[in-house]
Amino acid sequence: MKISIIGGGGTRVPVLVRGLLDLQEQLGLAEISLSDTDANRMSAIGKVLDAIVRQRGAHITITRAEDFRSCVAGAAFVIAAIRVGGDRMRVLDERIPLSMGVLGQETVGAGGFAMAVRTIPVVLDLVRELREAAPHAWFINLTNPSGIVTQAILSHAGFRNAVGICDAPSSIAALVAHILKVEPEDVVLDYYGLNHCGFVKSVRILGADVLPQLLSMLGGLPELESMTHFTPAYILRLGKLPNPYIWYYAFKRESLGEALAAGETRGEEMERRNSALMAQLAVTEDPVTVYDAYLGDREDGHLAKEYRRTMNIRDGEGYSAVAMEVLLALSGKRQLVVPVNVLNQGALPFLAPDDVVEVPSLLSERLIRPLAVGPVDAESQLLIQQVKSYERSLVDAIVYHDTEELIRSLALNPLVPSPAVARELVSAFREQEAPYFDIFR
Ligand code: G6P
Ligand code: MN
Repeated sequence: MKISIIGGGGTRVPVLVRGLLDLQEQLGLAEISLSDTDANRMSAIGKVLDAIVRQRGAHITITRAEDFRSCVAGAAFVIAAIRVGGDRMRVLDERIPLSMGVLGQETVGAGGFAMAVRTIPVVLDLVRELREAAPHAWFINLTNPSGIVTQAILSHAGFRNAVGICDAPSSIAALVAHILKVEPEDVVLDYYGLNHCGFVKSVRILGADVLPQLLSMLGGLPELESMTHFTPAYILRLGKLPNPYIWYYAFKRESLGEALAAGETRGEEMERRNSALMAQLAVTEDPVTVYDAYLGDREDGHLAKEYRRTMNIRDGEGYSAVAMEVLLALSGKRQLVVPVNVLNQGALPFLAPDDVVEVPSLLSERLIRPLAVGPVDAESQLLIQQVKSYERSLVDAIVYHDTEELIRSLALNPLVPSPAVARELVSAFREQEAPYFDIFR
């Protein structure tokens, strides 16, 4: 089997490759092919990959393809994790809104909006080419904003073998397992909503819903707030478990305040860490040690080391684990239920059948079937519906190059305070993120 990684010079690619090497025999994996538009990054990360393969004594060919077409030719799976415009644009995505008193974040709100504008045209071109070059391949999308990108693919690329994934639902499962002292594999979440905008309405262990029991235990967990941003009291009142990104919607003032008060945005931190990594990789004799130190520091931004230690989480594991499960299932090695981004098809009755949603889905050989979630409370429906209208309108605006629709979509985002601010934000992005906004009439 051949697997392609688009964005092969990405700083999380070694995590994916480690995951793939763990499954090498099960998958019958003979080749990993990488492609990236940034040759320097690819050679720096390539050094880490070569060293990982050498250390493991793995027999596998890692090829660096000249272009997308040769990268995907003959591949069974194409994993895409690209960042159009690089770290510099992530910084602008965050800084431009913050300069106007609006949340700037990589994937939600105005930041995710600008990222979608840059990314979707590129991904649609890639998937249309994939349709010609490897029509039977599966496109596993990790490219953010993952849900919106997957919506664009499934609505506009004429290609159905695509699925969007994210580690956030599984990070909730890891936390639940930690609290209940069970194995994460034994936890089944009734997660529902959209990527970076959803909730867990029940937690099943051996079939029984243990959410009430879990909620009653939260009072004894003062560390919950530093692990998740949410206090036990908040979750108890909510009566369900929020996706970590719900923080931005439920605590608008606090999350914006924190972003404004920080000296550095997460994007600026990543730009700094990533360029230090590149500089170190250029000179080191031991790329794996350099990389692992980088990864550990980066993960600290998600969950402090002490918690990762007590929870027994290997650095980066969360990021690759969902992708690996999806690969195993789609290649017929196992059947499983996992929340992924797919066409709704009735799983959430309050959204359209062709809306992309993040819901538990049954995965088996070449099959992804979303499972019915059943009734959900009115409050979360409202948020999910509003965010979905924003996403649909944004995808249309991008595909049809429509400036007015673009502004309208941003104004629909719950984190954008008014239509006038949406208009100002779009002008600022057009100016500072040109040429990515030049497609709009
Ligand atoms: C979580 C999200 C990903 C996102 C990442 C950002 O894992 O689920 O979608 O890419 O955070 O991480 P970073 O280390 O780049 O800030
Ligand atoms: Mn994610």
